[in-house]
Amino acid sequence: TILSAIKGEFVVEDFPDLVQAVDEIFEDSRSASSGRVTTYIPSLAQYPADRWAASICTTDGQVHVCGDADDLVTLQSVTKPIFYGICLDEIGEERVHEKVGKEPSGHGFNKITLARDNKAHNPLINTGSITLASLYQPDQPMSARYKSVMSKYQAMVEGSGQMLHFNNTVYLSELDNGHRNYAIGYYLKSKGCLKEKVNLKETLELYFQLCSIETSVRNASIMAAALANGGRNVYTGKQIISERSVQNMLSIMFSCGMYDYSGEWAFEVGIPAKSGVSGLIIVVIPDVMGLALWSPPLDSYGNSVRGVHFAREMVKRYSHGRN
Ligand code: DON
Repeated sequence: TILSAIKGEFVVEDFPDLVQAVDEIFEDSRSASSGRVTTYIPSLAQYPADRWAASICTTDGQVHVCGDADDLVTLQSVTKPIFYGICLDEIGEERVHEKVGKEPSGHGFNKITLARDNKAHNPLINTGSITLASLYQPDQPMSARYKSVMSKYQAMVEGSGQMLHFNNTVYLSELDNGHRNYAIGYYLKSKGCLKEKVNLKETLELYFQLCSIETSVRNASIMAAALANGGRNVYTGKQIISERSVQNMLSIMFSCGMYDYSGEWAFEVGIPAKSGVSGLIIVVIPDVMGLALWSPPLDSYGNSVRGVHFAREMVKRYSHGRN
């Protein structure tokens, strides 16, 4: 970044101009105060409804944050595309998609249903993500599986000055209240989606652990920026997820990342994104930047109200000739 600065070469040439736009849209979005904080996991219900943060990180590592961007928030379903990418690299595209499809489901994220070919619809809903958890290093002890996947997540933010964390309270809360996910697990097993010898308990534990990884909103934007950067960490330049896998991740985020609002989002915003029940949304503008938006109140689809408002306003401002 220093070399680029000396040479005056930045991905976003007029960064101060972008910062000003982001600040304005951020303040404007604060007033989008409808929505409800999720309650089905008690420890997520404790997030205050007025928390609001946005962070942007360009592919050359310029960061700008607004609001409560150093608050820690669990990834929840934002973990799903990242885990999918890691699985593509480690397990291979063919084996992954033998079990998990590429279609929007048209249902809520935790619906107990499969696509017509008896596969999970896609890797960004629970059936898909739990299936992938069953395939991820199943012969290794749990500690090794967690360590292996967590090291990939950490590598995405290396150099940011902050680590990722793990929220054990949320994890235990998921274990205690994840009845629907246990049901999904048994359903998948009954349908032959999971191998005979798969340990269901461990599969679900890994899935819950991935949802309970905790990040600052700032670091979430740096993870999104690594995806915008073709899977390379924006500070170290290291390839964390292969370019091909990132391509697949972004395709599925584009069509399936925002729950049942995904079609509308693709139409109105047109940028790959993924949201989670903690109120976090990551947005990836390839070759430009990653964004992380966080505010706990969710709309009826399960997306952060302020986050969606922000993204729509941002696109309005920058899509010349469309609005
Ligand atoms: O109940 C669950 O499965 C959650 N911990 C995952 C939450 C989430 O954000 C939903 N998304 N697809």
